[in-house]
Amino acid sequence: MKNVVLIGFMGTGKTAIGKRLARLLGWEFIDTDAEIERLTGKSVARIFAEDGEVRFRSEENLLCRKLTQRERLVIATGGGMVLNPENVALLKQNGVLIKLYADPEVIIGRVKAKKERRPLLKGNLEERVRELLAAREEAYSIADFAVDTGKQDPDSSAAIIYDYL
Ligand code: S3P
Repeated sequence: MKNVVLIGFMGTGKTAIGKRLARLLGWEFIDTDAEIERLTGKSVARIFAEDGEVRFRSEENLLCRKLTQRERLVIATGGGMVLNPENVALLKQNGVLIKLYADPEVIIGRVKAKKERRPLLKGNLEERVRELLAAREEAYSIADFAVDTGKQDPDSSAAIIYDYL
């Protein structure tokens, strides 16, 4: 059985929906940011600040390699995971890729509260979100199925994915 991999921009609900979907499927849930924090003993913000983004991306790639050896996982990826084509190839090998998306206004509203936990959103939040969204549109388009998570609550989004699977 393939893994289910949630991809998409920050604030699209990958963690909230992933947890619910894992419950529905009776599968294990893994959030790659949380897993990297556990393995390194550092927060994502600290890794970016002390070791740099390149180091964080290599931790993501390492984890990606490990996770693709496993099955029956619901994986919530960090928003930049699929920027690396090698990660995409690995995740696709034994995973169904689901893109979560939402309007920029919805995303901005959601990420505002925990801005300091997301190092890439430093500076003018609205500008950064719009800029990064435009730059990443193509990277997220490789998914097998997509859900607009601004249209319903996380339980309903998880149910939509469950029905698709
Ligand atoms: C990132 C998204 C974050 C985290 C890191 C980088 C990105 O994860 O991995 O701050 O490049 O979009 P979330 O999408 O879970 O916020």
